[in-house]
Amino acid sequence: MENIIREIRSYIETIKNDKTLYDEMNFSDRADALDSLEFDVIERVESSLLTNGRHEELTSLRQYAEMVKIRLEDVDERLFQRLRYNIASRNYTSAGLRQQIVKYAGDGLENEQDESYDNLDAFTNGLLLIGPAPKETREREPEMVFYQPTPTRIVLELVEKADFQPQDVFYDIGSGLGQVSILVHLLSGVCAKGVEFEPAYCNYARQCTKELNLSQVKFINVDAREVDYADGNVFFLYTPFEGRILEQMLGRLRDESRTRGIKLYTYGPCTLQVAQQNWLERVDQNGREVYRLAIFKTLEQRLGAV
Ligand SMILES: C[S@@+](CC[C@H](N)C(=O)[O-])C[C@H]1O[C@@H](n2cnc3c(N)ncnc32)[C@H](O)[C@@H]1O
Repeated sequence: MENIIREIRSYIETIKNDKTLYDEMNFSDRADALDSLEFDVIERVESSLLTNGRHEELTSLRQYAEMVKIRLEDVDERLFQRLRYNIASRNYTSAGLRQQIVKYAGDGLENEQDESYDNLDAFTNGLLLIGPAPKETREREPEMVFYQPTPTRIVLELVEKADFQPQDVFYDIGSGLGQVSILVHLLSGVCAKGVEFEPAYCNYARQCTKELNLSQVKFINVDAREVDYADGNVFFLYTPFEGRILEQMLGRLRDESRTRGIKLYTYGPCTLQVAQQNWLERVDQNGREVYRLAIFKTLEQRLGAV
């Protein structure tokens, strides 16, 4: 045990003394170090505390790791505060903000075959969110899916491929904490709306847009089947529901598509059901894997049919 304690202390010390980690630009290495302090050190020490003696030494080890963690988090906090101030003051163009994000956290493309989260997600969470997610307050129907965020690399891909026009109106159906709508607006300039069933998530997302001084991002707290989508032409679904509810929602979008062309982006298992709609054609080259962005367009012949 003594050797292990010495080894862990020396590991924490190495992180603490690594000057490169205090360089703002080094976000990804810092994020890795923070993860390692949390999972390899603090959690490990905590479980040892439950099963071993040596309480004083282990508690002091945990406090040491927490102190180093706070120092590193402070670097991120200063960085995010500055970026948030610049967003709220409208100091970035859409392209300028994208450059900032990629400069610090990359574009996540190395993980595009993967459904896991990465340091790019850690970065956009720090940038856009105001704290931990609130608890759900409303019971979901069995086919409604619980909250899980879309990986940021998928949102970057969506914005890159969407060729947004200034008059477009984007909807994230089942918008959770709101990152997709906020990011799409910030990276493209279009008006973005999120529709969310859970009031606590919706309030949280509204608070995020308020903090960033965004007037063109709105969140609507209602069941997605009840919304009037007359102004929307670009829709995103990260599998907010399945089965019959998804079918009803697609029926609503199909009705909308009788008056104008719409684009539908999907991510996750709902893609399989969307792909069976005979009024949509799939136009991306991302293959059959459900954890890749899928892009659907209204079939040409439907346009102007009514
Ligand atoms: C997989 S999460 C996606 C969250 C968000 N789109 C994102 O990518 O960050 C699905 C979300 O849909 C919401 N949801 C489920 N059923 C819904 C419904 N009928 N109407 C509106 N939102 C719903 C859930 O509360 C949850 O926040």
